[in-house]
Amino acid sequence: MERLEEPDMSNKMILGEMPATRKDALPMALVARDLEEVERIYQATLEPFRVRFGPIIQHLDHYRGKRLRPMLVLLAGHAIGSVKREHHILGAVVEMIHTATLVHDDVLDAADTRRHTATVNANWGNHASILLGDMLFSAAFRLCATVDAKACEVIGDTTNKVCAGELLQVTKAGRLDLSEADYFEIIEGKTGVLTECATRLGARYAGASPVVERRMADYGRHLGMAFQVADDVLDLRGDANTVGKTLGTDLAQRKMTLPVIRYINSLSAEASHRLKGLLATTEHDAEVIEDVIASGSVESAQLQAETMIDEARLAISQLAPSAYRTALEQVARWAVRRER
Ligand code: IPE
Ligand code: IPE
Ligand code: MG
Ligand code: MG
Repeated sequence: MERLEEPDMSNKMILGEMPATRKDALPMALVARDLEEVERIYQATLEPFRVRFGPIIQHLDHYRGKRLRPMLVLLAGHAIGSVKREHHILGAVVEMIHTATLVHDDVLDAADTRRHTATVNANWGNHASILLGDMLFSAAFRLCATVDAKACEVIGDTTNKVCAGELLQVTKAGRLDLSEADYFEIIEGKTGVLTECATRLGARYAGASPVVERRMADYGRHLGMAFQVADDVLDLRGDANTVGKTLGTDLAQRKMTLPVIRYINSLSAEASHRLKGLLATTEHDAEVIEDVIASGSVESAQLQAETMIDEARLAISQLAPSAYRTALEQVARWAVRRER
């Protein structure tokens, strides 16, 4: 136990900075070796593309995220039983799918910075980004086929829902009357289902019973949705240098997020009319963001994220106690209190 709590910081470069403080270092320390294997599989899968597309694939080498989704596959696997080859492959699969969605999302959101570096669209344009994202998606499915048909089915259902979530958000952009129900449907699709898939598959390939697999899936879904609400809070009041990506893009694209929805719903008819005027062009966005923050709606959204995290923790409360269950609880807490 003592040894497990000592993080191996030699992995810091590979693993990004999640979670950063010593107090929260347990999750990373527990799966550091497994994550190295995930990384090896990820790199090997991209290798054939390097010959022809060296610079753009090399860009992905500097394009390091927090590796949250593979970490969830691994922690869920260990919490239930033993981690096997399937877990390492599936860790690479979910990270590759996540990366594909980010490459596409930065086109949709016209973002310049991601993971502390230039986005693919900023360097190579939208056309290359669409195709690189497609390449990552198809490489992930090819890799998943080395596990089995069931894994491909779960991953396929998941990517369908992620695309539906992003599509719903795009088609609802500009709607200042977006309901909270629609917002939750959007974030469940674009974020919740991928973390759900990660914990579900982690549990499944460690031999979980259907009931336990469902609880792990519930944990992952609640965690992902809370993570997205916290991300939408960071989009408004985060520090761009710390977060490492372009902020304010949701409002710039007129994609209504929970703090903004709650702010709009609190306005009088007159104030609502004034807001519509301000949002007619993007030049007053900074002022609108200040108003949203001053209204207390950001705090309200943050509290909502914390409530969703309570649901995530409740879903795994019946699991046998272990360092891995504790780590999953820590990841849940970190997901809504992070600065990046
Ligand atoms: C970003 O996810 C997209 C959202 C779901 C909010 P992460 O914050 O996990 O991104 P990386 O992988 O660390 O870059
Ligand atoms: C992230 O959505 C993309 C997916 C979850 C598919 P956002 O647009 O809200 O996230 P960031 O802020 O760009 O990472
Ligand atoms: Mg987006
Ligand atoms: Mg975005």
